[in-house]
Parts: sequence; structure tokens; C-alpha cells
Amino acid sequence: MHYFIIFFVLLSTSSLATAQQRRPSNIRPGSSLTPTKNSSWLSSSGLYAFGFYQRPNGGYAVGVFLAGIPEKTVTWTFRRDDPPVSANATLLFTAADGRLVLQTGQSGQEDTTYIADIASTASYASMLDTGNFVLYNSDGGRLWESFKYPTDTLLPNQTLSAEMELFSSVSETDLSTGIFRLKMQSDGNLVQYPKNTPDTAPYSYWSSGTYGTGDKVTLNLDVDGSLYLLNATGFKFRNLRRGVNTTRGTILMMRIDWDGLFRLYSYRVSNSSGWSVVWNSTGNRCDPKGLCGLNSFCISNDLEPGCRCLPGFARVYQDNRISGCERNFTAESCKSKDKKYTLEELDNTVWEDISYSVLPQISKEECSQACLVDCNCEAALFTDGECRKQRLPLRYGRRVGDSNIIALIKVEETSKSSIDGVSPTRDGKKEIRANIIVIISCIFGALILVIVAIFGIILHRYHVSAYRRIPYNGNTGFCGDIAPRSFSYAELERMTDGFREEIGRGSSGIVYKGTVIMNDGEKFVAAKRLEKVLSTGEKEFQTEIKVIGRAHHRNLLRLLGYSIDGPNKVLVYEYMSNGSLADILFTPEKQLNWVERMGIARDIARGILYLHDECETQIIHCDIKPQNILMDENGCAKISDFGMAKLMKQDQTKTFTGIRGTRGYVAPEWHRKLPVTVKADVYSFGIVLLELICCRKNVDQSLPEDQVILEEWVYQSFEGGDQLGQLVGDEEVEPKQLERIIKVALWCILDEPSLRPSMKKVLLMLEGTVDIPTPPDPTSFISTI
Ligand SMILES: *[C@@H]1O[C@H](CO)[C@@H](O)[C@H](O)[C@H]1NC(C)=O
Ligand SMILES: *[C@@H]1O[C@H](CO)[C@@H](O)[C@H](O)[C@H]1NC(C)=O
Ligand SMILES: *[C@@H]1O[C@H](CO)[C@@H](O)[C@H](O)[C@H]1NC(C)=O
Ligand SMILES: *[C@@H]1O[C@H](CO)[C@@H](O)[C@H](O)[C@H]1NC(C)=O
Ligand SMILES: *[C@@H]1O[C@H](CO)[C@@H](O)[C@H](O)[C@H]1NC(C)=O
Ligand SMILES: *[C@@H]1O[C@H](CO)[C@@H](O)[C@H](O)[C@H]1NC(C)=O
Ligand SMILES: *[C@@H]1O[C@H](CO)[C@@H](O)[C@H](O)[C@H]1NC(C)=O
Ligand SMILES: *[C@@H]1O[C@H](CO)[C@@H](O)[C@H](O)[C@H]1NC(C)=O
Repeated sequence: MHYFIIFFVLLSTSSLATAQQRRPSNIRPGSSLTPTKNSSWLSSSGLYAFGFYQRPNGGYAVGVFLAGIPEKTVTWTFRRDDPPVSANATLLFTAADGRLVLQTGQSGQEDTTYIADIASTASYASMLDTGNFVLYNSDGGRLWESFKYPTDTLLPNQTLSAEMELFSSVSETDLSTGIFRLKMQSDGNLVQYPKNTPDTAPYSYWSSGTYGTGDKVTLNLDVDGSLYLLNATGFKFRNLRRGVNTTRGTILMMRIDWDGLFRLYSYRVSNSSGWSVVWNSTGNRCDPKGLCGLNSFCISNDLEPGCRCLPGFARVYQDNRISGCERNFTAESCKSKDKKYTLEELDNTVWEDISYSVLPQISKEECSQACLVDCNCEAALFTDGECRKQRLPLRYGRRVGDSNIIALIKVEETSKSSIDGVSPTRDGKKEIRANIIVIISCIFGALILVIVAIFGIILHRYHVSAYRRIPYNGNTGFCGDIAPRSFSYAELERMTDGFREEIGRGSSGIVYKGTVIMNDGEKFVAAKRLEKVLSTGEKEFQTEIKVIGRAHHRNLLRLLGYSIDGPNKVLVYEYMSNGSLADILFTPEKQLNWVERMGIARDIARGILYLHDECETQIIHCDIKPQNILMDENGCAKISDFGMAKLMKQDQTKTFTGIRGTRGYVAPEWHRKLPVTVKADVYSFGIVLLELICCRKNVDQSLPEDQVILEEWVYQSFEGGDQLGQLVGDEEVEPKQLERIIKVALWCILDEPSLRPSMKKVLLMLEGTVDIPTPPDPTSFISTI
């Protein structure tokens, strides 16, 4: 309660301070801002502010925002893709060298970032009433201004000059870089593209049609709301929107929105009805290419664009429309006798034309037939007697108005694949029903939680008193099937004979061998003592107990107990007599045969599948590699080291976090700051599978140049067709089986996460129960999302 009062006092004093600052604002060196006190510098009218603003998911960012309106709309952000800063960051206008610096981290070892990259000393700064934040030199010359580095918004008097781009945000609230861009090209054309595409016509989805009008054309927004292009001589040659007589107190901004359209907004300060759209680049919300993910297409209705999967496909993630769709892996080798295929028609649907073959002058039926008998053909576009055969994935799919384009999609005949409800009303009902289900499940969930909590309290009481009642009998014994138990440090010292015999080193500590008395005699255990200095060690310790305490599976290393008492934190595991897979696989003397290696691959796959699909909380291991796979005395593989693992909340399917895992095994999306899903583990598994196939490390500098990178060597051999045998050296492996397993691995290591199979499919493929299609080049189809 007291905290609340203090909080309110703080709030009211800070808003008082804000009010007092409304004066012509020349900011002098020596001034500073913090997220909680003196958080921003206001413009003279108090409309715009430069400083810290709160990010919706916690933390703060530095930017320019409209402090004078309740919406506090952000118009510029410094390094929008950086992680949020904490409440004890400081923004300094340094007295010594007149630079603007953001300091984060612990005092004494701060990280400093220069906000304005300027060479000379700034004498003062000013937040102007136009929304421009400017640094001046002593003569009043402008050294730096935020208007020159737009993010997604253009304000009146701000121009977008040649070669500059605006990038959309991820969403209305997440202001980091999204998937669309608007570029003022040096050929005079203003064009919209998806992010990460070349500046060429096939990728554009909107343009001003002013190609060739000069190399210094600028996009301008005036205070009257006119939006136009100017050439180098200042000639207004293209009006996107004509100006109107705006009343005083109207704020204007142009923004490329998360959905790829750019819009002009106006805001009447006297009329608190919020922002209204006064102009937009297009009325068709399906125009932006890539709004829907791979293998899906956009359907426009007046309100919201919707994404639908192609027939025979299902959403990769139910709640995420841009995640795209994937096909059942059962639609594999089309030569299979017991599978019948047919082509399903979709009218007026187009996608990026990446046809590998074009058949002219044939009928629609002939086109269908041609695709049906061609195992590479997964879909075809038929227009005016021309048949364009395509492979998956299909990108930039959308429904277009009237056209004579017919899309043909190959589907399995048995699967009664009907395209889900296209009419918006039906969809709406579905959503309402889904919502009701969610609400009901929540209520039930809450009830169950309450019951569990009550039981938990009762059990806890019982346990605590039970422990007190049973005197310590000198032996450390426990039965096999209980949750991890807590040890005292003294017990552990006794068990490990004073941490004498070292048997390995993990990511966060040294592992010692120990002995414990069980019902059926003495048993060995492995005790991992975590480095005490590491601050991350604490987190890993907690994660490990949380993850592995909940997970019980034949292919996961069992956590028997832990100790949080004494100088070190210790985790106690079952002892694996055969060491790690890395020891065995990369030591020529210990060679395993093909059958054993494939058994290990299936073991690992089962362990990962359990983490992904069968635990109450979905777990991403994040560090699958041979060093973390341990072998028991029966040759059964168990996944260990959950220190990096990521627990997903219920209904969360992706996460943004810093890179976890080990070089060579981490999936490409970690490096691209893309959301990370369970498919990151699939990637790491794919690399381990390749190592299992070839009995070598994924990077081996001692080999000839074309073999150094394992993935590249395997893919080249795979493309070469008959050279697969070289991958397994002298070993006799049935060629068909070898090819199958290589195909599985190549599917797993595709760059595009949504194309990688789920762990369930991987296991089915490894077990040989489903057919496996030919994988695409692992580096193709780099996601634009
Ligand atoms: C806030 O800034 C003003 C002017 O820069 C300064 O006078 C005042 O002391 C600051 N307040 C706090 C709490 O730092
Ligand atoms: C900064 O804040 C974090 C938590 O918000 C805290 O753990 C840390 O100690 C703080 N650092 C300093 C230097 O105050
Ligand atoms: C826009 O810029 C022009 C010249 O650069 C200036 O005269 C005018 O006052 C500015 N308008 C606003 C609203 O700042
Ligand atoms: C700008 O457009 C005007 C009118 O079309 C033309 O006369 C002028 O040469 C153009 N300037 C440049 C630099 O292209
Ligand atoms: C804008 O205002 C000017 C003068 O105030 C007037 O001449 C003009 O007709 C007005 N334009 C419109 C579109 O209302
Ligand atoms: C407020 O804005 C709405 C929509 O822009 C408009 O219909 C309404 O007339 C405005 N009211 C006033 C008082 O200006
Ligand atoms: C958006 O643009 C389309 C076509 O240019 C137009 O029909 C529609 O009215 C515009 N919508 C708004 C809100 O301006
Ligand atoms: C494949 O799709 C069909 C229908 O589209 C569905 O019944 C079946 O369960 C799916 N199989 C898998 C393995 O997802």
C-alpha cells in the first residue's frame, strides 16, 4: 500500500515538473535525462518531446514522441531494434565534449552509445515544435537532426531524400523494424517493397510511377497536408495528396504502417477523437507482398486482410497469420503407389512467379495433367493457355479482383482438403467460438490451479513435517521415481569424496563423479558444480531445475537432486558411463556402426519431441549438440544441459531473446533477430544428424577445402546424386536408406524455419513411416519476415 502512495506522489511531482518545463527549450551541455525522473525535453509548446518513452513490453527506448496528446504517439526511435533499456539508464548531453550519450548497465562499467554520430562539439540542442530534435554548433549551424534519420514516420517539413527508406514497424505497439519498406529511389520513383528484397519491379507492390524523373527527387509533406514529389530544381511534379486548408491545432503525420500501407494521419487537438486516416497509398490491404506467410494467400475484405492456407496446408502457428502454412509431409514422393494426387483449383489467386517450367498453348486440363505426372510440380499457375509449373514454397500469395488466373495446387486425394471458410462472417463466428473456448478453458485452468495449489499446500505441509520426523540415517538414499530432491553441501562432499574425480566440463561448471546408496545398492551419480562467480550461472541453475524437474523421459538426462546450500550450487544427475556423443563420434577408435548411429538419432529426436510437444510447458532446448548428448551403458542417448533452455508460456510459440547455443549448431534466425521457435532445435538436430551420418564435426579445417563445412559438402554430394557413398567413407550403407536420412537432415537445416519439419515429422521420417520429398537448397527462400 505504501508503495502505491509513494508511486502516486512521484507521478504527480513528475507531471508538475513536466508542466514547469514548458518554455523555449535550449538544452545545454551537462543536462541529463533518466527514464523515471526528468524523462524528456519538451518542445516550446510542449507538443513534442525527446527522451525516454516506455516500451509496451517493459523497459524504455529513446525517441521523439507527441507528449502533448494522450496517445503519446512515437514519431522517431533511436536504434529501434535494440533491446529496451532499464529504468536506470541515463541520457547525457556531456558537458565536456558536447555529445549525446546513452549510458546503460551497472555504474562503473556502463555501456555508452552515442546517439548522434557527430564529429564536432555541440553547443546546445533543441526539441523543435516541428518534431525535429536538433544539435547545434556555437554558430547555430545544425550538426545533427532526427529528421534526417526517419524510422517509419514523416512529419510536416520533413523530407525523404533520394536513396532513403522508411521501414514499417512490427506492429502498432512493437516499434522495431517490421517487414515492409518505402524507398525514395535515385531514379525518381517512390516504391514500396517487402524488406530484404532487391529494388526490382517483381518485388514492388506500390509505386508513384515516376521512374526517370531525376536522381535527386524528394518526398515531402507540408503543413497543409499535401504530399508530393519535388525534383532537384524544386519543381513539384507529382502530387500524391493535395493540401487542404487545415485548421490550427491539427497535427499531421505520414507513416508506413505495420501492414505495409502508408497513410497520412491527422489529429485534431481540440477534438480528442484520436488519429484519423486522411489518405492512404492503396485501398487494397492485400497489396503488400508478404503480408501473409509462405504457402498462404491474402484475402481482402473492407476491414481486415485475412490469410488463408493453400488447400492441403495448415498454419505453422495457429495464432500467427504471417507464420505461413506447411503441408503434411505425407504428400511426399508422388511416385508412391498407394497415394493418389489431384489438383485443386483456386480462382483469382496469384503469387510470386518462380516457375521452373512454362508450358505454352495448352488447356487447363492438360496443365493439371502435366503437373500431376511431374514429381517436382507442386502447383501451377494457368493463364491464357500458359501453364507455369512451380515448386514450394509459394510466396506473396493473394487473391486478386477479376483475373483469368487459375491456381492449381497438388493435394493428396484421400485427404478431404477443403479450404477453410473464406467468407468473413463465417470466419468471425469461428473466432467468437474460439474466444468462448479460450474463456472457458481459462476458467477451468484457474479452477484447476486453485485445486492444485490447495493440494500443493497440504502436500508441502505433510512433506515438511515428514522430513522432520525421519531422522537422518547417515546414508543418502532415494527411490527412483520422485522429483529432484535437495541435498546439503556436506552430503554432496561425502558422495563425491570431496569433489575428487572430475569427469567433464559443461557450459557452466565442472562435473564430478559420486556414489549414492539406493534401494538396490550403490549407484554412481554425476554432480555438476556451477561456477559461483557467473551471474548467468544463477539463471541457468534455476532454468535447469525448472526444466528438467518437470521433464521425465527416457531420452532426457534425469536430474536426481540439487544443492543450494554451501559455497556452490550443485546439480546431481544420473551417471552416464559412456560419456558424451561427441567423445564417441569424433574419436576414430570408438567407431559406432550405422545402425547404432541411427538409433542414437532417433533417441535424440524422441527427447527433443518430448520437450517440444509433450511437456506441459513447451521447452526449446537451444543448445542441441553432440557434447550435450550423453550415452548410458546400454547405448541409449540422453539429452543433457538444459541451462540455455527457453520455457515457452502457454500459447506462446515464439520468442525474441539474445543468441543462445553454440556456434555451428545455432539456427540462422538467431543471428537475424527473428523470433525463435522450436524450429531452432530442429536446425541444431539437423546438424547433429549430419555429424552422425558422416562421423565428423560440422566444421573440420583439416579436410580438403570443399569438405570443410559439412552442410555444404553434403548438399553438393546430394545434388551430385551418385556421390552419396563418399559421405560415409568405407562403410556399407544401403544407398536408399542413406539418401533418406540425408534428405531428413537437409530438411532440418533449411534457412526458413517454417519450412523445417516439426520434430514429430522428423521422427516419422527417421522411422521410415513416411515418404520424404526432395529438399530445396538449404539456403534458398531466405525469409523476408
Ligand atoms: C530536471 O531538470 C531540470 C532542468 O534541467 C533541473 O533543474 C532539475 O533539477 C531536474 N530534476 C531532477 C529531479 O533531476
Ligand atoms: C539497474 O537496474 C537493475 C534492475 O532494474 C538492477 O538490477 C541494477 O542493479 C541497476 N543498476 C544500477 C547501477 O543501479
Ligand atoms: C517549414 O520549413 C520552412 C522552411 O524550411 C519554414 O519557413 C517553416 O516555418 C516550417 N514550418 C514549420 C511548421 O515549422
Ligand atoms: C524538374 O522538372 C522541371 C519540369 O518538368 C524541369 O524543367 C527541370 O529540368 C527538372 N529538374 C531536374 C533537375 O530534372
Ligand atoms: C483556403 O483558404 C484560402 C484563403 O484563406 C482560400 O482562398 C481558399 O479558397 C481556401 N481553400 C479551400 C480548399 O478551402
Ligand atoms: C471531431 O472529429 C470527428 C471525426 O474527425 C468529427 O466528425 C467531429 O465533427 C469532430 N468534432 C469537432 C467538435 O470538431
Ligand atoms: C484509401 O485509398 C483508396 C484508394 O486510393 C480509397 O478508395 C480509400 O477511400 C482510401 N481510404 C481512406 C481512409 O482514405
Ligand atoms: C494431414 O492432413 C490431413 C487433412 O488435411 C489430416 O487429417 C491429417 O491429420 C494430417 N496429418 C498430419 C500428420 O498432420
